[in-house]
This record gives sequence, C-alpha cells and structure tokens, in this order.
Amino acid sequence: MTDAAPAQYKGPQRVFSGMQPTNGLHLGNYLGALKNWVALQEKFAECIYCVVDLHAITLEPDPQTLAARSREVAAAYIAAGVDPKKSIVFVQSAVREHTELTWVFNCVARMGWVERMTQFKDKAGKHEERVSVGLFDYPVLMAADVLVYKATHVPVGEDQKQHLELARDIAQKFNNDFNTPDFFPLPEPLIQGPGARIMSLRDGSKKMSKSDPSDMTRINMVDDADTILQKIKKATTDPNPLPESAEGLKGRPEVENLVGIYAATAGKTADEVLKEFGGKGFGVFKPALADVLASQLGPIAAEMRRLNADPGALDAILRDGAERAQAIAAPIMAEVRDVVGFWR
Ligand code: TRP
Repeated sequence: MTDAAPAQYKGPQRVFSGMQPTNGLHLGNYLGALKNWVALQEKFAECIYCVVDLHAITLEPDPQTLAARSREVAAAYIAAGVDPKKSIVFVQSAVREHTELTWVFNCVARMGWVERMTQFKDKAGKHEERVSVGLFDYPVLMAADVLVYKATHVPVGEDQKQHLELARDIAQKFNNDFNTPDFFPLPEPLIQGPGARIMSLRDGSKKMSKSDPSDMTRINMVDDADTILQKIKKATTDPNPLPESAEGLKGRPEVENLVGIYAATAGKTADEVLKEFGGKGFGVFKPALADVLASQLGPIAAEMRRLNADPGALDAILRDGAERAQAIAAPIMAEVRDVVGFWR
C-alpha cells in the first residue's frame, strides 16, 4: 500500500444493505436491521436494499424454496416500511453485475485477507475441506454487492464489520493497483443501533436466531398478539424488580435484553423505559412489553400476508427494483471493465 494521502471520494452518498432469503425473519432482523433501514431512507437520498440470494446458495442450496423465500424477505422489507418507490428493493441474482465484479475482486483480494474471516471459520467448522468455494468467497461477493453501486454507507450488524473491512481493503487495493485513486469509495459500516443485539428470550448470552430449535427463544415477525404474550411471559428473568436505571442492568443479561427490546420497539432509551418501570416487577413489565411488540408487529405481519398473497404484484416491484439497480451498476461495471483493460 502507498502512504499517499487518501484520495477524496467525490461521488454521491449511497446506502446499500442486504439480508439472506431465510424463512422466518424474527424480531432481531426487524429491530436490528429493518427498522434502521427504514430510518435511513430519511437521511440518504439513495438507499438500495437487496435480497442476497447468491449468498444463500453457499450453504445447502434449496432450489424448491429459494425464489419463494426471496419474495418473502422482500415482502418483509416493504412491510417493515422500506418504500420501494423511494428506495431500490430487488433480488441480487437479477443483477448480473454483482457476480461479474466478484470475479475481478477475486483477483484483487489476497488469500490471506479472506482466510482471516472469522465467519467462514465459524460456518465451515471442522469441514473446511468440504464446504463450497462459494462459502469461502462469500465476503468477496459481499464487497462486490456494495461497490458495484459505489455505495458509501452500509448498515450491518456487528458480526459483519470484518466483512466490511475487507470490502474497504479491496476497494483501496483496486484503486491503488489500477491507479484510479478515487474510483471506489471506502464504504463505511453503519453499525446498527441499540436494537442491534437482540438476544434469545431464554438465554441472554445467545443471539436471537431462527436456527434455535426452540421457537420460544424468539419472536417471529409474523407472531400474533397471543403468541407474543406467551413467549414474553415465559422469557427468562430473575426474581428481582427492574432496576431504576440502565446502570443496574449490568450482570442481568436477560433483563437487559427485554428492556432493550422495549426501548428499541418504542423508540426510547433504556433509561427512559426504566424511569417508567424501575422498581416494578415483571408481572407488570412483561404484559406491557408484549403489548408494545404486538401493536408494532401486528400491522407489519398483516402487510406481509397481503404482499405474499399477490406474488404478481410483488414480482413487478422486484423487477422494477432490479432495473433501477442495474441502471446504476451497469455503467460502473463498464468503467471497471475499461480500467481492468478487458477487450471491447
Ligand atoms: N453477509 C450479510 C449478513 O449476513 C448479508 C449481506 C450480503 C450484506 N451482502 C451484503 C450486507 C452487502 C450488507 C451489504 O448479514
């Protein structure tokens, strides 16, 4: 790397983020990501929200369900408040420039950089020799997702920070190697706010996850009011009342999680929540929490059902999104082809 002063990227600010098409989005996806994406629409003129189905085939591809899951996740984006007219909502595989840029980036990224990625090690576990090359390459594809739009800001959870650093390294090396100093921006992670770490309802040390065998550990975006109440009532707590301030949450991870969920849902700080509930017992707090959750998730679940019932209308939205995404990506990819020196 050169130690020249970093070039000033002068292009437009642009947000890009994505989620894998997994079935069963839950409260962690909503509070940790979608709610934040919705808010970013007010702060940035251009937001691009992608359903990353190319990433989804790196582990256990399932052609029977993939397209349906992509639609469902897109429906969740929209139901949560992503406006597909204002923002671009589309499915990754519909814009082929993602894969084309990935190849170029494969030749920019260094083995050592990608080998350091901890998520690969976690996902591959003991089977490093048997997982797909795609799983190893996952973070390079992710860098291409962002940079094929020259996106400048990327809302992600803490667990994706390392992948974003790789994207910055790839952008920097491309800019240096091809002597195009400010071609790619170095995308900034926007580590998602207070709701970013939503933990299991049964174990405050584990993230809320759709792969947990027990459904009682999570609130699904489509759970109805009764189900939410049952799950919150059974959530692990301790016998003490709620503390008077956020300070008192230390060492009480399950309580901290529930207060955090209340705060993120109601748009308050933990201190504000505890001003109201400090000193009270869970017999009072839990029904109030279930209530806030049900009133926020209810309309979203209804909208998801409405969108999923009309796949034709949803596909029209996704086709429009893919066209608008490609209108940004294609000229950038054409420039990359010239910079690299491909024949034309
Ligand atoms: N890897 C991300 C996750 O698991 C999903 C993702 C793929 C993504 N491409 C992206 C997120 C580009 C942000 C930008 O959460």
